[in-house]
Amino acid sequence: MAGRPEPILVVEDIHTAYGLSRVLFGVSLGVAPGECVCLLGRNGVGKTTTMRSIMGLTPPTSGRVAWKGHDITREAPFRAAGLGIGFVPEDRRIFSDLTVWENLDVAERRTRPGGFTTERVFELFPALRQLRDRPGGFLSGGEQQMLTIARTLMGNPELLLLDEPSEGLAPLVVDHLQAQIGRLKAEGLTILLAEQNVDFSLALADRVYVLEKGHIRYEGSSREFRENAAIRQQYLAL
Ligand SMILES: Nc1ncnc2c1ncn2[C@@H]1O[C@H](COP(=O)(O)OP(=O)(O)O)[C@@H](O)[C@H]1O
Ligand SMILES: [Mg+2]
Repeated sequence: MAGRPEPILVVEDIHTAYGLSRVLFGVSLGVAPGECVCLLGRNGVGKTTTMRSIMGLTPPTSGRVAWKGHDITREAPFRAAGLGIGFVPEDRRIFSDLTVWENLDVAERRTRPGGFTTERVFELFPALRQLRDRPGGFLSGGEQQMLTIARTLMGNPELLLLDEPSEGLAPLVVDHLQAQIGRLKAEGLTILLAEQNVDFSLALADRVYVLEKGHIRYEGSSREFRENAAIRQQYLAL
């Protein structure tokens, strides 16, 4: 499209399977620098698998993943991370015996000047500063989600893959998380969000892809999607 910036992440016709069980059937998407793109879909449609394919955790059997023009399709996950892709998995993997500060400190990677430090992360997530000496295991679900995102930021990603961050959180907590992610977007981070929560996604996303049974069924701006009741009903049962 004329005027749209070149995507920094390109996923091209990927097919991904777990053993003989095929999950993705030709998924293509793109994310431009500074964009927040949401991959929407019901449970089990392949959102997590798409993210695992991008990270190299479950490499696609065919198709291509390119990051900043480099083919990373069959690169190891640590390579994708090293190249600036941060993955926040849905099962908030924090160290429950380490304090908030320790969880962040062990994740720090001094890869470039001006990168994230615990201090900068505490500025972005003031609630975490209050909790800095509390063990991860004693945080609420919302606090753990914040810590998981904050810890990923310590690796200095340019692109953040957020897998269902709102899942299992109370509505007020979801609102707070939405504001926090909005701040990351304002900081210039590029975000690919996988979600089932449509309101949460539309508050953050510039563009939306709808995934169903491993196929992309819809692609459009958040505004177009908001106005398209038929698509929401057909693929998200709203
Ligand atoms: N490790 C796995 N082994 C086998 N099948 C899996 C595995 N992980 C997910 N699947 C299957 O792949 C499909 C898509 O899963 P997933 O990508 O997790 O969907 P979503 O994130 O949209 O809920 C589901 O049918 C799920 O059962
Ligand atoms: Mg998932």
